[in-house]
Amino acid sequence: MVLIQWRKDFETGFPGIDFEHQTLIEAINDLHARIDQDGDGVDAIHRISEIHALVEAHFALEERIMREEGFERYPEHKADHANLLDEILDIADALRQGREMDLEKALGERVRDWFTTHFATFDRDFHMWEQHEKQA
Ligand SMILES: [Fe+2]
Ligand SMILES: [Fe+2]
Repeated sequence: MVLIQWRKDFETGFPGIDFEHQTLIEAINDLHARIDQDGDGVDAIHRISEIHALVEAHFALEERIMREEGFERYPEHKADHANLLDEILDIADALRQGREMDLEKALGERVRDWFTTHFATFDRDFHMWEQHEKQA
């Protein structure tokens, strides 16, 4: 079963941003799909690091646009981004240190829930605002 299913309410109205979001979801779904095959060994550590890099790059881009456009809810939005990066680093650390962790559960509860909420709330809010600003 696919971990994160793309939903209509994830759409921001910006094809480039939606494409990046879909790429992130695919990378996470891919890691999730391989858990059974690879356990939580080296491959998982490698993949979670890749996901961290992808997510970080996407956030950097989004945050730059928000600053440039003077988006007033930037601090809250950035803080929510930082939360996810912390979660991903926690998972990566646990894997690296060989700590007891249910990767499936960690991805399911911590990562999926974050994405589902963030896309449909923070990102949607920002892109709606952006659209509105551009028309004004
Ligand atoms: Fe985003
Ligand atoms: Fe965002």
